[in-house]
Amino acid sequence: MKSLGLISVFLVFAACNSHSDNSSGLQVQVDSLQNKLNNSYKPGLGEFMSGIQVHHAKLWFAGINSNWKLADFEINEIKESVDDIQKFNTDRPEVKSIGMINPAIEGISEAIKKRDTQLFKRNFGVLTNTCNNCHRATDHGFNVIVIPTTPPVSNQQFKPVP
Ligand code: HEC
Repeated sequence: MKSLGLISVFLVFAACNSHSDNSSGLQVQVDSLQNKLNNSYKPGLGEFMSGIQVHHAKLWFAGINSNWKLADFEINEIKESVDDIQKFNTDRPEVKSIGMINPAIEGISEAIKKRDTQLFKRNFGVLTNTCNNCHRATDHGFNVIVIPTTPPVSNQQFKPVP
């Protein structure tokens, strides 16, 4: 009886011990994953903005050339970047203002759907003003976006594929 008691004390002790071993092992794994996460690459807000800048320019040349498929592609690239900004740049307080761009994006999509060049040009002006409104609202008013006068690249065709 006495030895049975000893055995059960030993078993409880062994169980606790192995449990704590196990959880400290898990903690090591959690710490190592956390460390990997902290060191994994994630683009900054400025990098997303530089991408948006190129899509904004390509969008203009697609639209004024009535290349609606390319224009649709470019506005969706801008939309995706806005989604990524909300996902990856949560550490930047400016991101709270990003929603102001959504109605301007919708205006462009509407013009693309209607294949209406005049509406596209008007709504592109609205989009560009919105970029600048947000830059002013977030103390980046020195970053002024304008309607481009030359295509951003020379190795891409903006006219529709016949
Ligand atoms: C949150 C509101 C917001 C909106 C909407 C916005 N921006 Fe920005 N933009 C910023 C902020 C904040 C920065 C500064 C980022 C940094 O710290 O690098 C910035 C920076 C930039 C830069 C400078 C990047 C560089 O490194 O040179 C460009 C170009 C830019 N934005 C283009 C645009 C364009 C084009 C649009 C509209 C299609 C737009 N932005 C809409 C907030 C915004």
